[in-house]
Amino acid sequence: MTTTAIKGAFFHLLDDPSVVGVTAAHQYEPDGLLVLEAGRVTAFGARVDIEPNLGPDVSRIDHTGSLIVPGFIDTHIHFPQLDMIASFGEQLLDWLERYTFPEEAKFLDPAHAAECADFFLEELLRNGTTSALVYGTVHKESVDALFEAAFARNMRLVAGKALMDRNVPEAVRDTAESGDRDSRDLIARWHGKGRLGYAVTPRFAPACSDEQMTRAGKLLAEFPDVLMHTHMSENLGEMDWVKELYPDAKDYLDVYDSFGLLTNQSVFAHCIHLKGEEFQRMAEADAAISYCPTSNLFLGSGLFNLKEAEKYGVKVGMGTDVGAGTSFSLLQTMNEAYKVCHLKGHKLDPYKSFYLSTLGGARALNMGDKVGNFEVGKEADFLVLDMAATPLLERRLKNCKSIDETLFVLSMLGDDRAVEHTYVAGACRYSKRK
Ligand code: GUN
Ligand code: ZN
Repeated sequence: MTTTAIKGAFFHLLDDPSVVGVTAAHQYEPDGLLVLEAGRVTAFGARVDIEPNLGPDVSRIDHTGSLIVPGFIDTHIHFPQLDMIASFGEQLLDWLERYTFPEEAKFLDPAHAAECADFFLEELLRNGTTSALVYGTVHKESVDALFEAAFARNMRLVAGKALMDRNVPEAVRDTAESGDRDSRDLIARWHGKGRLGYAVTPRFAPACSDEQMTRAGKLLAEFPDVLMHTHMSENLGEMDWVKELYPDAKDYLDVYDSFGLLTNQSVFAHCIHLKGEEFQRMAEADAAISYCPTSNLFLGSGLFNLKEAEKYGVKVGMGTDVGAGTSFSLLQTMNEAYKVCHLKGHKLDPYKSFYLSTLGGARALNMGDKVGNFEVGKEADFLVLDMAATPLLERRLKNCKSIDETLFVLSMLGDDRAVEHTYVAGACRYSKRK
């Protein structure tokens, strides 16, 4: 078996810095060594400690001068929204009607879905994202195309076909029965194949009938290791609509809960307008939030309260929410997250930002035992950051005196240009052309 040793500076998180403190939460190895076999980490640490134990036939890769971090994990993204990202002027509900649903209608065509899936995954890798929780369209063809393309790249990716049987145009509508049948078919063919996983994906409560939500809850109970992925409490107009549709529900979370969709496998995107009590129930259920700052700012949805999620101990990961989000880059997402937190009156430190984009995201998707950092036994997904990606970044980084300053500057000034290489399960899947 081939053993590979990668040399460079490494940074990763071992735990949540807001829970255990930044010192215990991180490890920085300015002269480190990462040893891989069969796509997994077999040793990691300071080079002086690891190197003496290496055999003579180890192949070596030298990334000296770059910073190596675990692959970014995007906990909420829509692959069929590539061709309408950056659409002008609307908030959520009008944006969906005017731009999103017409674009998603095109994914009935498997050739279109396949072309978009390839572009989408290459764009993830170009941005250093190695895992993602992804929305397909209502058409199972879209998810087939995405899984096929992700399987070919050996990516740890979770996706699902959107369930949406009411209040949406006919071209993107299923039925409770067909949505259930297609989800089961996709689970049977893809869940657990390679590194792929399935997520039962109700679009959001206003687009799913009671019958569809009931069936989604049953699916989750039947397949306990499948995720549940949806949107919640994103926009005030959406919230009024949910109140109208479910006048007896205590709140928006209660709607999902009443159908069995609030579990430790659940990932709710946005959660901007949650009440304290809802955070509490999310924590009790061990459900997760995907924090999507570029999207929340772009659609004018509001400012997520990360401190409140921390206070109640709710799992949080970072999400781009492309195409409402405006960048595939988790570095740019950290940039906007920092500004949103600033406006909410607190400081998002770079340890927490990188946690949310790596191990925190992995934990939100219940894959923290597989990816998210360089612990021995984990799958070797990581990226190599180019510290001279732009003249300004190079100049500013040279003036940094600590790893936290370096990480902060990378998150403010960095984007896809800062990603030099992306490795998936030990294989280099993307290299920037200089
Ligand atoms: N709510 C329901 N569908 C969507 C979507 O596609 N994007 C966002 N941001 N919110 C949604
Ligand atoms: Zn979304």
